[in-house]
Amino acid sequence: MTAPLQEKENDQPPSSAPRPAHPWRVAVLANIKAHGKSLPAVVPPDAGADYDYIETIDQIRAAIETDGHQTVFIQADRDLPYALKEARPDICFNIAEGLGGDAREAQVPALLEMFKIPYSGSRVLTNAISLDKTLTKRIWRDRNLPVAPFQEFTFGDEPLRPEMHFPLFVKPAREGTGMGVNEKAIVNNEAELRERADYVIRLYHQPALVEAFLPGREFTVGIMGRFDTVLYSRHPEWYEKDGFLRLPILELDSSHSITPGIYGLEAKAQSVGSEGAPGYLCPAPLDPELTKKLHRLAWRAHVVLGALDISRTDIRLGADGQPRLLEINPLPGLTPGYSDLCIQCTAQGISYEDLILEILYLGASRWNMLVPRDISLPQKKKTDPLNGAAKTTNGK
Ligand SMILES: Nc1ncnc2c1ncn2[C@@H]1O[C@H](COP(=O)(O)OP(=O)(O)OP(=O)(O)O)[C@@H](O)[C@H]1O
Ligand SMILES: [Mg+2]
Repeated sequence: MTAPLQEKENDQPPSSAPRPAHPWRVAVLANIKAHGKSLPAVVPPDAGADYDYIETIDQIRAAIETDGHQTVFIQADRDLPYALKEARPDICFNIAEGLGGDAREAQVPALLEMFKIPYSGSRVLTNAISLDKTLTKRIWRDRNLPVAPFQEFTFGDEPLRPEMHFPLFVKPAREGTGMGVNEKAIVNNEAELRERADYVIRLYHQPALVEAFLPGREFTVGIMGRFDTVLYSRHPEWYEKDGFLRLPILELDSSHSITPGIYGLEAKAQSVGSEGAPGYLCPAPLDPELTKKLHRLAWRAHVVLGALDISRTDIRLGADGQPRLLEINPLPGLTPGYSDLCIQCTAQGISYEDLILEILYLGASRWNMLVPRDISLPQKKKTDPLNGAAKTTNGK
C-alpha cells in the first residue's frame, strides 16, 4: 500500500520565482521492471523492456525533493486509482509506459484527466498517437515533414506497394526501446519480408510497420519548452525567443555496436561506454547547416504532434544524405548517465535535478499551480510550425 504523504512543517520551498504557494506532494508514476502485476499473461520476450528500474524512480524523487517538495512512488498498475485516492498528490510526475493495449502510454494521462489530477508532460492524444509510429508518420507526412516511404501490414499478406523498394525495415508499429528490433528487421526480399512481418504481428499482437531502410547516420534530438515557457520556467535563460530549447544533437554511432547499424533493444541495454554499446556523440560532429535542419525538424515534429514540455525525436539519414523522421518519444527515458535525453542535457550543462524540476514546473504551470512571471511576451511574427506560413502570436 502507498503511505499517505504527510504535511510538512516548513511550508516554504527553497526555489526562487515562480514559486508555488506551498510545497507540493508529488507522486511519481511509473511501471517498474519485474513487477508481476504489470504485464499481461502472454507477452513477447522483450515485453516490459521500456519499464523503469526503481533506482531511476529514486533519482527522480530525490531531484524533486531538492526543491522542498514531498514525493511518493506509485506503481502504474491496476491499483493506481486506489493508490492515488490514498496519496492525494497535488501533481503527478508521469513516466508510466502503461499496461498493453493499443495506446498504453496514454492510459495514465487519461486516468489522471478523468480524476482532474495535474500531471507533467504530454497529454492523452499525443501519448497515444506517438506510440503508434504509423499514425505519427501519416500526420508528419501530411505536414510535409520528411519520412521514409512506409506501409503498415495488419495481416502480413498485403501486397507490397510499388513505392516500397528493398531493403526494407520491419518493426512493431507500437513499441519502444528497440523492442522487436534486431538485425533481422532488415529484409532484402519478399520471403524475408513476409517472415518478419508475420513474426511481428504474431508475437507483438499488433501491425508491422514496414519502412524503406535508411542506411545513413542516426541522431536523436531533444526539445524542451513551449511558446510561453519563459513565464514559468525556473531557468528562462535556457530558452530561445520562441520559448523552446533545442538540446545538443546526440549521434548514435552503431558501426561497432553489438547490433551493427541498428540501435535496437540489445544495443540500448549496454551501459554507455561499454564494449558492444553504440558510440554516443554529443554534440554530434555536424556542420551548422545540418544541425539547424535537424533542430528544426525535431521542433516541428514536436509541435505538430502537440507534444508538451519535453520530447525526443529520432532521425536517420537516407542514402541521399537527407534526414527522415523515424519517431517521437514524448515520454523519453530519464535514467541519469544512460538515457539519451539525459546525455543531451549533460552536454548542454543542465543538471539532472534541474531537468526533472523543469519538467515538473512546466507541467504544473498548465494546471494553474504557478503564478506566472510578471512579464508580457512580445508580439512577433512567427513561422507557423504546422504550415510554414507566417502568423502573429503573443506566444500563449
Ligand atoms: N527505417 C529504418 N531504417 C533504418 N533503421 C531503422 C529504421 N527504423 C528504425 N531503425 C532502427 O531501429 C531503431 C529503433 O527504431 P525506432 O526508433 O523506430 O523504435 P523504438 O523502439 O521506438 O525506439 P525508442 O527506444 O527510441 O523508443 C532505430 O533507432 C534505428 O537504429
Ligand atoms: Mg527510437
